[in-house]
Parts: sequence; structure tokens; C-alpha cells
Amino acid sequence: MGFKTDAIHAGQEPDPTTGAVTIPIYQTSTYVQEGLGKHKGFEYARTQNPTRMALEKNMAVLERGVAGYAFASGMAATTALTHLLLKQGDHAICSENVYGGTFRLFDKIVRHYGVEFTYVNSSNLSDVEKAMRRNTRMVFIETPTNPLMAITDVRAVCDIAHKQNCRVVVDNTFMSPYFQRPIELGADIVVHSTTKYLNGHSDSVGGVAVLKREEDAERLQFIQNAAGAILSPFDSWLVLRGIKTLPIRMQAHNANGMAIAKYLAARKDIEKIYYPGLPNHPGHELAKKQMTGFGGMIAFDLGSLDRARTFLERVKLCSLGESLGGVETLISHPATMTHASVPAEDRARMGITDGLVRISVGIEDVEDLIADLEAAFAA
Ligand SMILES: Cc1ncc(COP(=O)(O)O)c(C=O)c1O
Repeated sequence: MGFKTDAIHAGQEPDPTTGAVTIPIYQTSTYVQEGLGKHKGFEYARTQNPTRMALEKNMAVLERGVAGYAFASGMAATTALTHLLLKQGDHAICSENVYGGTFRLFDKIVRHYGVEFTYVNSSNLSDVEKAMRRNTRMVFIETPTNPLMAITDVRAVCDIAHKQNCRVVVDNTFMSPYFQRPIELGADIVVHSTTKYLNGHSDSVGGVAVLKREEDAERLQFIQNAAGAILSPFDSWLVLRGIKTLPIRMQAHNANGMAIAKYLAARKDIEKIYYPGLPNHPGHELAKKQMTGFGGMIAFDLGSLDRARTFLERVKLCSLGESLGGVETLISHPATMTHASVPAEDRARMGITDGLVRISVGIEDVEDLIADLEAAFAA
């Protein structure tokens, strides 16, 4: 089926009891069994929940994997993947400007279990190749990266990693499967913060991982149940509802993102703009090859903390806040918000300066958004 049809129907049969067209929220912790060992395939809700399983099936179809598993947050999904792929003595490679919380998880928790990490500019393939070791078991990439929108060649990274027994994980949160499908590009696992575009309405926190290999899927299902960081039935239902409009929302984010990027690019008082849809973005050609849209995330550098602070305090329609991917426009300051956990010298080296502003362009009327930005620049 086409993507829009799958978004609405995959994994979502009408409810067998009542015919309800939307999958019910199965708000139960357990299921009555007919006798010892005799039940309908549902024993306990951490292990099986029909609402969560509908979302998991839906995401597996949209990301072209064999199975998906939903977690209590994007970070819980990534944590489960470290349980799947890494053990003491292993080495992992990670894109250097991933979401700050991903870096914090690897650096402040997983590293203490005897796993070594190397952070590379994964847009630079020779850096990935040089970082590979005999014991490298995971290459974790985010493309585009958060917040600098650097693009990594997923297919080429997979070619490097797959010369040995090493899995490639792609955080596809910024693009969603509507604009980019990493498994089709060779990746082994896709991870999402469903908190962002998939749910799309800034009213739920969740995560999902989709796998290409049966053996990984079986093991992750075991980990999901054993470690227990499952997504609740209500959040699963919200994300399923959000996904039904993912294609049209992504088209609207993309159109508004492009219009705002062009508006910013025409201003003389902005030092740098990071948006892969602009032809002078270093990843533009690659983005056109592996993505079918550029999305609604833009970063731009105002040159100093003072100028960024003044600007962020003046916008009215664009709300100052962490997170992204909702229908409403959110604007943030990565150095003190999403990336505060990255050491200052690493931030400076990567270009996450004190003047950098990130905007998650929503789907409001773009003229209103531009008027709000214009007023904040002018004041
Ligand atoms: C790209 C990316 N990946 C993962 C996460 C973590 O997701 P969550 O906040 O749902 O744990 C975020 C959160 O901002 C993110 O932006």
C-alpha cells in the first residue's frame, strides 16, 4: 500500500468486539485466563498490550522493518538498543552532534559498563572508517543531526560497518519515515522519539525502535519485557492517532520550513543558517538523494548569547521551549537547553555556539510566523 494508506491502516484492524474503527485504549494491567496455560495470547500488560502492539505493527510497516517496539520515551528506546547491541569490552561509534541526551546516556551511563565510545563527524566517511575497531558493535548516527542539520550518507556508513559484525542504528526523529527510511538505505535499526513528529501534537512522550533482522527483533522484544520501559496504552493510542496525519503534517512542516529558511537566508544580519533544503548547505545534494523532503528544523547563528537571548525573549507566536516536531512552532537555544549536557569546548568545536538558535517550524500560516520573526529582529 502507499505510505498514506499504511499510516492510517497498517496494524489497525477494526476492534473485533464492537467494530470500533479506532483501536481502543486497552487500559488494563492483566487478562483473565481460561485455565492454566490457556489464554488468548495476552497474559500481562507489560508483555502484551493490544494498543501498543497496533502502534508497533504500524511503525514496522512504515519504517520497512520486521518488527517495532514502543518505549516510554525516545531515550528509553535508545537505552534498550544499548542492551541489545553492547556488552562489556565492546566499542561503539556515534555521530558527534547527536541529541544531547543521547550523548549523556552513552557518556554518563553506558560507558561505565565498560563500553568505549568514539564520537566522529559522521558526515565525513573517512572519520567513520578510521574509528572502526575489531570490537565495534554499533554505529549510531543521527541524520540530519540535532541541531546543526548535518547529513550523513546512511548507505555509505552501512557499507563500512557491515564489513564486520556491527549494526547501524539511525535516529530518524527529525525526518520521520515519511521523508527518510533508513532501513531501505541499509540500516539495521531505526529509532525515534515519538514525542516529536510521529505524535506531532506535543502531548505525549514516547519512543520506538524498528528492526530489520528477525534475531534482533526477538531479542529486543525480550529486553522490552525484561527491562520494562514500555509505552503506556494511552500514549500508544495518541501516537497512532498522530501518525494518521503524519504525511500531510510533514508536507506542511516542509513547506513552512523552506519558506522560513529562505526568509532567514535573505537577511544580512544572520551569520549562518543550517537547513538542508538550501542549495549552499554542505549536505544538500546528499539530502536530495536519501530524503524526500527537508523537514521543518532550522538552526541559525545570531553571533552572540546577548543577541540570541534578546531575540528569543521577543518572539511571541514562536514559543520558547525544548522539544520539536509539534504542530506549533517552538524555538530554542541549544547551548543552554537541549545541548547543555555537552561540554562547552565540544559544543564550540562542533558549532553549537552561544548565538545558535533552533526553530522547529510548525504548521501555522507561514506569513504569521515570518511576521513574528520580523518583529523580533526589528524590536
Ligand atoms: C533527535 C532526538 N532523538 C532522541 C530524543 C530523545 O527523545 P525523548 O525526549 O522522547 O526521550 C530527542 C529529544 O529531544 C531528539 O531530539
